[in-house]
Amino acid sequence: MRYGVCMKSENLVTAFQKLFGSEPSSTYFSPGRVNLIGEYTDFNGGYVLPAAINLGTYYAVGLNTTNRVNVYSDGADGLVSINLTDIADQILNQDWSDYVKGSLVEYHKSALVGEHGVDIYISGDLPRNSGLSSSASLTVGLVFLLNNIWDCNLDRLDIAKMSRSVENDFIGLQCGIMDQFAVAKGQTDHAVCLHCHTLESKLIPFQLDGYEIVITDSRVPRKLSESSYNQRRGECDAALATLQKDLSIDYLCEASVQDVEKCEELRANPIAYKRAKHVVTENSRVLAAVKCLSQNRLAEFGELLYASHNSLRDDFEVSCKELDILVETTKNIAGVLGSRMTGAGFGGCILSLVATSVVPEFIQQLSAAYAAHTSYQATIHCCQIGDGVKQLNN
Ligand code: GLA
Repeated sequence: MRYGVCMKSENLVTAFQKLFGSEPSSTYFSPGRVNLIGEYTDFNGGYVLPAAINLGTYYAVGLNTTNRVNVYSDGADGLVSINLTDIADQILNQDWSDYVKGSLVEYHKSALVGEHGVDIYISGDLPRNSGLSSSASLTVGLVFLLNNIWDCNLDRLDIAKMSRSVENDFIGLQCGIMDQFAVAKGQTDHAVCLHCHTLESKLIPFQLDGYEIVITDSRVPRKLSESSYNQRRGECDAALATLQKDLSIDYLCEASVQDVEKCEELRANPIAYKRAKHVVTENSRVLAAVKCLSQNRLAEFGELLYASHNSLRDDFEVSCKELDILVETTKNIAGVLGSRMTGAGFGGCILSLVATSVVPEFIQQLSAAYAAHTSYQATIHCCQIGDGVKQLNN
């Protein structure tokens, strides 16, 4: 799926009318997310600190008089049409339509499929497969708008959980709940500190005095379900099983750094040990980062970003040469306090904390150095922290 340039609401409505021959009843926006810190802690029952961003997926929607759900994506230039009575029989197509099918399957499992067909036109401005959660953006938006149009009374947490089940049960990616939670429950100018085991969350004000978060897309392509994501999950489970021989814990993040260091059987398995070490140290970094933000200690927050990247590179081994080049380059640009890869890695984006006054130089220097040292051209986004999924009009 390659989304085109963000469509203004009126263009979305016109495109819907042209394609479906009727007026949409409503329009929606579902954001992407940037994870400030707390990588691979979610399915290990730990803390994460993501935020919704103002890039995302747009939808125009209307009920139709048939028994079909018709969904068109202008980025993919593709239409999927599913009969309401056939929802249980969906199979994977290995493309964007799987998220549509998976969302409908979740409605079917919850016996919430409406009586009327729906037409949906989708557009967006979020780069796909780059660590900014284009799939959570697409899925949460679909689950949210179906909830409204079929009057199902689901709340935002239900919507996040259903959207995660689409990934786990239909797509086959054993991800945690961070992305779907951030997309469903993000708020402008706030990061979401979520404890992924209890699902307790707190909004953390995120307006930085003189600094901003800049996102650089390495343009290194990746596909999570084909990548080592599920393998990392298995390695974490193996580390947990070893620690459980001595500790009464249900999640890796309940172990302390000392627990990991003093478990001899774990240390004897270098892969499991490194994965566990990353997870428990990253979990502590999230809590430290929240403290730094609340006390406006931005330089220390920046150091935590660099430390997170090192741990993801050396212990969790989900970075790649290009992401490392980007992060290393930012260390030599004046006015940068910290950088790290964001999201699942294996390509995708880094985020950097940059003084607002040097952003133009940052863009120029980082783009030039990256082009000189790799075969890719970086894309740099200065995006804002925005709201979670929402209806744009009635
Ligand atoms: C992907 C997954 C999340 C999380 C991150 C890594 O974005 O969807 O659940 O595990 O990777 O932190």
